[in-house]
Amino acid sequence: MNLKFTEEQEMMRKMVRAFAQAEIAPFVEKMEQGEFPRAILKKMGELGLMGIPIPEQYGGSEMDFTSYIIAIHELSKVSATVGVILSVHTSVCTNPILYFGTEEQKQKYVPKLASGEYLGAFCLTEPSAGSDAGSLKSKAVKKGDHYSLNGSKVFITNGGEADVYIVFASTNPELGSKGISAFIVDKNTPGLIIGKDEKKMGLHGSRTVQLTFEDMMVPVENLLGEEGEGFKIAMANLEVGRIGIAAQALGIAEAALEAATAYAKERVQFGKPIAAQQGVGFKLADMATAVEASKLLIYRAANLRQSGIKCGMEASMAKLFASRTAVEVTTDAIQVLGGYGYTEDYPVERYFRDAKITEIYEGTSEIQRLVISKHL
Ligand code: CAA
Repeated sequence: MNLKFTEEQEMMRKMVRAFAQAEIAPFVEKMEQGEFPRAILKKMGELGLMGIPIPEQYGGSEMDFTSYIIAIHELSKVSATVGVILSVHTSVCTNPILYFGTEEQKQKYVPKLASGEYLGAFCLTEPSAGSDAGSLKSKAVKKGDHYSLNGSKVFITNGGEADVYIVFASTNPELGSKGISAFIVDKNTPGLIIGKDEKKMGLHGSRTVQLTFEDMMVPVENLLGEEGEGFKIAMANLEVGRIGIAAQALGIAEAALEAATAYAKERVQFGKPIAAQQGVGFKLADMATAVEASKLLIYRAANLRQSGIKCGMEASMAKLFASRTAVEVTTDAIQVLGGYGYTEDYPVERYFRDAKITEIYEGTSEIQRLVISKHL
C-alpha cells in the first residue's frame, strides 16, 4: 500500500480544512443548541462535497474513495455533526441508489443527492431490531402499482430533514432476512410520519428521529433492487459506511489530542509545563499512538475499497479501533485539562460526548467483532 496521499487528495484535505475553519467552526455553538446546519450543507453542495465519490455522469465530483474519507475526517475534527450528516447521506443513501438502482432511479435521484439539493437518510433500525437488523418487522405489501408499507423505525439520522429515505421492509416475512426489500421513499410520500426527535448526549446539530409508516404508498418503480435483496443492499453499503464512521471517530480523536497537547504545553504546574511532566507526557504519547494506528487502519480500508478489493473485515476493524480510540482519547483529553476540561469553556467535553456514539451506530463494537470473527 502506498502510504503517501496523492496531490489531489492533499488538495481535498486542504480545501476541507479551510472550509471547516471558515464556515463550520463559527456555527458550532448554534449546532450545540440544536440548530441543523442547513446553510453549511448548501455550501458543501456548491463545493462538490455532497457527492465526492459519485461519478460526474450522475452529477458527482468523481473523486476517489480516499478523498471522501479525508473529507469526513477533516469535517469531523471541527464538527462531528457535519461529519455524520455527510457520511449517512453519501454512504448509505446515495450509494445504494448508485449501485443497486435502475438507470431511471439513478437519473432521478443521484444528481440531486450529489449536488446537495436533496439530503439522504437510511432507515433500517426498528424499536425491536437494532443489531439483529434481519429481524425487522416493517412490512410492504404490493397493491397494484404501489407497495403499502406499515411499521416504524428509530434513530434515523437526518430524519425530518432528508428529502430521500432508503427504507427497508419485509415483502415476505416467512423468509426472514431474505424477505427484506429496499425502497426509495420521497419525503412527501403520504403515510410517512416523522416522529419524536431524540434528545441525544452529543451530535446536537444532527437530527435523529423516529419514523412511522401508515399505509405509506410507495410506487413499484421505487423498489430498489429486487424483492428480497434488501438485506444484502443494507449490508453491502453499511460495510462501506463503517469506514466513514471510523473517519468521523478519527476526526474527533485528533481534535481532542490537539486540544490536550496545546493545553499541556501552556499549563505550568510544579514549575514546568505539564506536557513535560511524565504523567501527562506519556498519556499524550499513548493518545497520539492510538490516533496514528486508527489513521492507518482507516486509510488502509479506504485504499482497499477504492482498489475494488473486498474490505468488510478491514472496515469493521477500522471502525472498532477508531471508535474505541475516540472514546479513550477524548476521556484522556478531559483528564489532561483537569477541571477546565469538564467545562463548556473548552471543546473537549463536546468531543467526549460526540465520541461515544461511534461505538454504537452503523453496527456496535460487538457487531464489528462479530463481523471480524466471521471473516477469521
Ligand atoms: N455484503 C453483502 N451481503 C452480505 C453482507 C455484506 N457485507 N453481510 C451479510 N450479507 C448477506 C450474507 O451473505 C447472507 O446472505 P446468504 O445467506 O445468501 O449468503 C445474508 O446477508 C445474511 O447474512 P448473515 O447470516 O451474516 O446475517 P445475520 O442476520 O447473522 O446478521 C450482522 C449479520 C452482521 C449481525 C448484521 O445484522 C448487522 O450488520 N447488524 C448491525 C446492524 C447495523 O449496523 N445497523 C446500523 C443501522 S444504520 C446507522 O446506524 C446509520 C446511522 O444513523 C449513522
